[in-house]
This record gives sequence, structure tokens and C-alpha cells, in this order.
Amino acid sequence: MSVLLDARGLTKRYGDFTALDGVSLTVSEGEFVSIIGPNGAGKTTLVNIVTGLAPPTAGQMSFRGLDIVGAGPVTLARRGLARSFQLVNVFPALTVAETLAVAVCARLGRGRRFWSSLGADRAVHAEVGEIAAVFGLADRLARLARTLPQGDKKLLDVASAFALGPELILLDEPTSGVSTADKHAIMDVMVGAARRLGVKAIVQVEHDMDIVFGYSDRIVALHQGRVLADTTPDGIRRDTEVVATVLGKPRS
Ligand SMILES: Nc1ncnc2c1ncn2[C@@H]1O[C@H](COP(=O)(O)OP(=O)(O)O)[C@@H](O)[C@H]1O
Ligand SMILES: [Mg+2]
Repeated sequence: MSVLLDARGLTKRYGDFTALDGVSLTVSEGEFVSIIGPNGAGKTTLVNIVTGLAPPTAGQMSFRGLDIVGAGPVTLARRGLARSFQLVNVFPALTVAETLAVAVCARLGRGRRFWSSLGADRAVHAEVGEIAAVFGLADRLARLARTLPQGDKKLLDVASAFALGPELILLDEPTSGVSTADKHAIMDVMVGAARRLGVKAIVQVEHDMDIVFGYSDRIVALHQGRVLADTTPDGIRRDTEVVATVLGKPRS
């Protein structure tokens, strides 16, 4: 299996506080990886560093064998790595269609000739329609993004990340703030979208253990900035220390 992301010894300090402490993470094509851990474990910090939003204090990272330390989110998106946010900020003045068009343009516009081509508008329009349909947003294209209910805002943020056409996508709590009943539907949409849109691997931060155990090939448990376990769902279930620390259940 071809390795997409290879991160070694990632450390992030804020002053005296160490948010990430020598974390290594490898993601290969075809994998669905969940990052779990209690609040403050460093999950969002890890996603931020891997996606170029914050620089690591120490450590190495490569994507498809190319060094990505110091590369910003725009460069990384161009190389095939995109993310969604735990706390979503929609563009307040844009409609759903316009929000998706920003991402579609970023992808299609990678080739300079695209902008001068006659079919550019039509191509963007068609892709926006397709992504919106995949994510169940097709009937809300003309709505201002800020007027959407919270669940749809999250979906729009995830859809925008998919619209960048990444090979690897990192989703920070994609179903937080969404009712339990809707979580599975959203996960099914995302997995289906990944298949249809050519996304090769998904990394998600997720608290809901039904979702984590139901969808993951591999689970990485973080605690106080360190990797406590990096194994299969069954491996996690059998690991009493992880179960006690991360899932908060008494050892039995
Ligand atoms: N910009 C920052 N400055 C100082 N401390 C931070 C910053 N970002 C995160 N932290 C701290 O790092 C720790 C890990 O945060 P975070 O990665 O958001 O945790 P998680 O996503 O696992 O809940 C927390 O204790 C948080 O307060
Ligand atoms: Mg977080």
C-alpha cells in the first residue's frame, strides 16, 4: 500500500506547555484512520500541524515522499491534502453554491489555462452541482451559508474540503453538534463521497465510539500529547489502559 502521509516525532510546544510530544503517524492509501482521545489530548493540534495551519516545534513530515514541514494549507491542498474544521466558520456573505465554487475553482484552476477556457464557468457549475448532490445540499445551493442549521454548516465545510479533490482528507470532528441519529447518515455520505471523488484516505477526529469502531481500519489514541495506541479497532478494545484512559470506562 502506498504511503501518503508520514509524520515522525511531531512535537508542538506553546511556551512551557507541550501540546504534542513526539507523535508519529503514517497514513496509506485505502485507510480510514480515527484519532481519539480526551479533550485537550492534542487531536486538533495534530491535524493543524499536518495540514500546515501551525508549524511543529520539532519533527518531520512528508506527503507522498516530499517534505511538507513549513508548507502552508494552500500548498498542501494543491499537493492533495485537505481538511475540515472542528469549529466551522462559513464565509458569511457567500451562498452554499459560491462556497463550494471557491473550492472547485481552487482545484480546477491549478492548471493556468483553465481560467481562459470557454467552458470554465460551466465546468465549475457542474462540479458544484455534483458535490452538492453527493452531500445532500443540492436543494440549498442558493441559501446564504450562514443561515444553514449547524449540521448543514458542518456538512458544507466537509463538502468544501472534498471539493478540493484531495487524496488525503483530515476531518476534525465532522459529526460534532450533529444528532446521533444523523451521524451514521453523514458518515455514509462521506465514505461514499470519498469513493466517488477519488479521495484515497480519510483521517478523522471523532468522539462517538460507535462511529469510530464502525468505520475505522485503524485507531490512534492520543493522551496528553502522546500516542497511547495505534492499532485496529479490536486492538483498542482489548487494550485495557486505552479503554480506561481514553474511553473513561473502569478497568474490568
Ligand atoms: N494556540 C494555543 N496556545 C496555547 N495552548 C494551546 C493552543 N492550542 C491548543 N493548546 C492547548 O493544547 C492542548 C491540546 O489542544 P487540542 O489539540 O485542541 O486538543 P483536542 O483537540 O484533543 O481536544 C490543550 O491543552 C490546549 O489548551
Ligand atoms: Mg479538538
